Amino acid sequence: VHFQSARFITSAPDIRHLPADEGLEVAFAGRSNAGKSSALNTLTKQKSLARTSKTPGRTQQINVFSLDDGRRLIDLPGYGFAKVPLAMKHKWQQALSEYLQKRKCLRGLVVLMDIRHPMKDLDQELIHWAVESDLPVLVVLTKADKLKSGARKATLMQIQEALPGFNGDVQVITFSSLNKSGLPDLERILQGWFSL
Ligand code: GTP
Ligand code: MG
Repeated sequence: VHFQSARFITSAPDIRHLPADEGLEVAFAGRSNAGKSSALNTLTKQKSLARTSKTPGRTQQINVFSLDDGRRLIDLPGYGFAKVPLAMKHKWQQALSEYLQKRKCLRGLVVLMDIRHPMKDLDQELIHWAVESDLPVLVVLTKADKLKSGARKATLMQIQEALPGFNGDVQVITFSSLNKSGLPDLERILQGWFSL
């Protein structure tokens, strides 16, 4: 897979408007502001493929990017944004769990978390849903550049120790879109998923 060949295809308001359930897909999910869009840009080596923002809740639609040979990357809207009405939050959670359950072309779920605020309730819930659907999960601890090496390793170890509790195929890496640390790990794991 050539991640650099990524091209924007469409913005879908909900999962019913996604492209046909064919080929292979990997989705990026996480709380608002976790760094999903930035990680997609880093992975694809394109500065403005996915829109990033200092304002949480920027990505409200599902953005779809095509790679080669029917492979796709999906930028899901962030969750946990305080200003979103509760009814909309519930609707989104339901849509997300449905997507994880029903989408046949989905090969794996990347769950991005700010390394300074990892494993919030919704993050854990999302991982549980993915595991229930037999999907491999990669936890990406983003903004690793914000912590000193000691704190970074401590958080990584703490998460690593919690992962067996999910009882599924769940891995964790640290990552920074700023200094590209963790990029080879992200590339390697996604290559594996896309070649299953
Ligand atoms: P929503 O679309 O709102 O859900 O956010 P998102 O998860 O797509 O986050 P986005 O990539 O837009 O990044 C949010 C903010 O975090 C921006 O100000 C980014 O510049 C910053 N950011 C993202 N990744 C990193 C990183 O690795 N290091 C640092 N220092 N800042 C980052
Ligand atoms: Mg975004």
